[in-house]
Amino acid sequence: MKLKKIQISNFRNIKSAEIEAGDEFNLVIGNNAQGKSNFLEAFYALCLGKSYKAPIEEDVISFNENCAVVIGWFYDGNSEFSITLRWEKDPAAGVKKTVLLNGNPVGRLSEFLDQAPAILMIPDDLEIIRGAPDNRRKMLDLMCCRVYPPLVETLRNYKRILDARNSWLKLPVKSQDPLLGEIYEKKLSTYAGIIVSKRLEIIDMLRPFIEEHHNRIFRLPSPDIRYRTSIKNLKDRTADAISGSFLETLHTLKQEEQRRKFTMAGPHRDDFDLKQKGKTMKHFASFGEMRSSAALLKLAEVEIVSGKTGKSPVALIDDCLNEFDTDHMENFLRHLYERCQMFYTSTGIHDAFGQFAFIETYFTENGAIRRCSQAELKTLLKTY
Ligand SMILES: Nc1ncnc2c1ncn2[C@@H]1O[C@H](COP(=O)(O)OP(=O)(O)OP(=O)(O)O)[C@@H](O)[C@H]1O
Ligand SMILES: [Mg+2]
Repeated sequence: MKLKKIQISNFRNIKSAEIEAGDEFNLVIGNNAQGKSNFLEAFYALCLGKSYKAPIEEDVISFNENCAVVIGWFYDGNSEFSITLRWEKDPAAGVKKTVLLNGNPVGRLSEFLDQAPAILMIPDDLEIIRGAPDNRRKMLDLMCCRVYPPLVETLRNYKRILDARNSWLKLPVKSQDPLLGEIYEKKLSTYAGIIVSKRLEIIDMLRPFIEEHHNRIFRLPSPDIRYRTSIKNLKDRTADAISGSFLETLHTLKQEEQRRKFTMAGPHRDDFDLKQKGKTMKHFASFGEMRSSAALLKLAEVEIVSGKTGKSPVALIDDCLNEFDTDHMENFLRHLYERCQMFYTSTGIHDAFGQFAFIETYFTENGAIRRCSQAELKTLLKTY
């Protein structure tokens, strides 16, 4: 899938921009704080149906404006389609968001996720390797949802029941209705079975991919990836078996949970381990090793999404490969270049970029983005 054109208005510091995209490598250059990351955020929002980083969606609307709009025109090899995303300040709801596919409102986000698949790489991806388990769960769940979109709903339901059960656990034990407790446990274990079985499937897809590509691209020892679950005695990997083991785990933990007043096991407590040379990367790996593993997980995502949807996703890379030496950067970009349309933001022109034949360059300044030649870019960067 490729983006043909994107129009952005009043999205963060981008007042108005229209870009005709190149089919292969699109390089968005600009100095700090000019709007490069905002551009990728707007683009990725088209693909997700929401901003990936604004905790309050209203934040994406330019200061002192009432409405932000992003429209993208895509081509997926067979047909053209457009996606429109519009955020409008609304005194009652804070912000009213509209998602349109070819001009028609989109119902469920889960049905929309496959439409314009994109992979985002940002500096924070390092947290997948070295950060708290929540970062890894989020990444894994996003991959699961891409392969199996109904999981969006399952995850939402799991969270809803988990919150309800935690509130129930906070009550004094004698006020806890045991029947209600049983209902929560049953529902929670059904959803947990589905979530964990899908996560295990994804880990099984990631493992051979990492083995095959890590050493080839980065010439570093391949990490091993393992799912770590808080569910005890996992006998089988089917959703039903996991659900049964989880129910038993909850029964075993019940008294301690009543004492500690929260649900101590389940997908919300699980994690995955990345080990290199038998050692947990989080504690022992170098910065470059962590960055390469984080980047490789994104390449795996490209492969998984392509396999599932039959569409190659667009790769959006926000200035996060600077720790790579020229060889690593070139190998990595070449892998992507051969598979997807790319948008790469950077404050400068890296040596590795010179190796690519089809490269379109854009200059970003004060929220305005325009196409310009590499020669012009070099002068602009020098004189800025
Ligand atoms: N809602 C908003 N309205 C107007 N400006 C905003 C809004 N949100 C963020 N900005 C501003 O947009 C500017 C550009 O941010 P952006 O993150 O895109 O910069 P950048 O070009 O990626 O810079 P860097 O190279 O430092 O990463 C920042 O100065 C930021 O304060
Ligand atoms: Mg930035």
